[in-house]
Amino acid sequence: MITEVLRYNEENESALRKASQIIRDGGLVGIPTETVYGLGASAFDARACLEIFKAKGRPADNPLIVHISKPSEAEQIAHTSSLYYKLAERFMPGPLTIIMPKRDIIPSEVTAGLDSVAVRCPVHRVARRIIELSGVPIAAPSANKSGRPSPTTAQHVFNDMNGEIPLIIDAGACEVGVESTVIKITENEIILLRPGAITVEMLSEICENVSVSSAVTEELKAGEVALSPGMKYKHYAPSASLYLVADDIDFISLVRERALSENCAIMCYDEEINDLCSITLLPIGKRDDIEEQTRRLFDALRRADEIGASTIYAHLPSKNGKSLALYNRMIRASAHKIIGGKNG
Ligand code: TXA
Ligand code: MG
Repeated sequence: MITEVLRYNEENESALRKASQIIRDGGLVGIPTETVYGLGASAFDARACLEIFKAKGRPADNPLIVHISKPSEAEQIAHTSSLYYKLAERFMPGPLTIIMPKRDIIPSEVTAGLDSVAVRCPVHRVARRIIELSGVPIAAPSANKSGRPSPTTAQHVFNDMNGEIPLIIDAGACEVGVESTVIKITENEIILLRPGAITVEMLSEICENVSVSSAVTEELKAGEVALSPGMKYKHYAPSASLYLVADDIDFISLVRERALSENCAIMCYDEEINDLCSITLLPIGKRDDIEEQTRRLFDALRRADEIGASTIYAHLPSKNGKSLALYNRMIRASAHKIIGGKNG
C-alpha cells in the first residue's frame, strides 16, 4: 500500500474529506490531534478497529480511545454522569480522556473486552472536523508502532506506518507533545490512570476526590493488575538505554565523564548546551519550561535512535503539576533506571 501524506489546508477541506471517506469505508488514517498523532478508524466498525491493532502491532488486550467532536456525543457510546458533564464543561474539548461504562454500540474489539470505554473530545480543529465529516466517533490510539515513542509530527507517523495505511493528514507538530490525561470516573471520584496536560491540581478543582493510580509513578509489582492495560507495557522506549539523572548529581560532570567511553546522546536543557560542546546533544528546552520539554520529548527519543546512540542521559523530571506527565513518560521510557536520588 502507498501511504499518502496530505498537508492540511485551511482554505480547502479536500484532504479532510478524503480522510473521512476512508474512515467511512472502513480504512485507517493518521490524524493530528493537540496531544500526539492518532491512528483513526470508525469506532463502530469492529473489523477496521482490528486493523488498527494489526498496523501498530498492538497487544489485543490494550483498549482504544474513542474520539468525539463534541462532549454531548458521549451519550451515544457511554453511560455518562453529572461528574462527566462538570469535567466536560471545564476541560472539553481538550487533552482529557474519561473512562465510563460503555454502551453496546461500541464493539468489544475497541475496548479489548472491557465493559468501559475511554472517551475523548480533542481540541485540535482538524481532528474534530474529520470526526464531524466522518459522521461516526473515531477510535484512535497513538499512531506509533507499539512500544515506540508516540508520534508528534506527520513524519514520525510516516516513519512508523509507511505502507500500512493509505493516508496521513499533516497539520504540523503537536502542541502538547504527550498523550491525553486518562481518568476513570464514578459519580464522585476520579482516578488518574495516565498524567497529561490536564493536571491533578486542575481535576481537583472540579472534584474533591482525586487519586493517582500507583502505576503512574511506580513499577507494577509482579502479579499486580493495571487499571489501564496500557500501563503494564514498556512504552515510549527508544532502542538506546535511557538513564535519568536525579538533581543531587552534577549532571554536567557525569555526562562529560560518560561521553568519554560511551556512544551516548544527552537530553539537556538549552542552558547546558555551551557546557557540553563536542558531545551529541538533544536539547529539549529551557530548564523551567516544562511545556516545551514535554512538546520535544518524543522527538528527542526518536532522534536518539536515528543517531544510533547506545545510551541516553536526561534529567529526572519532578512529579509536580505539569511535570508529572513528563516524569511518567520518562521513567517508563527508561524502565526506571535512575542515577542518584533515593536510588543512589
Ligand atoms: O492523546 C491521546 O490520548 C492520543 C490521541 C491520539 O488522542 N491517544 C492515545 O491512545 O494515547 P493510546 O491508545 O496510545 O492510549 C490509550 C490509553 C492506553 O493506556 C489504554 O490502556 C487506556 O488508554 N485505555 C483505553 N480504554 C481504556 C479502558 N476502557 N479502561 C482503561 N484504560 C483504557
Ligand atoms: Mg499509545
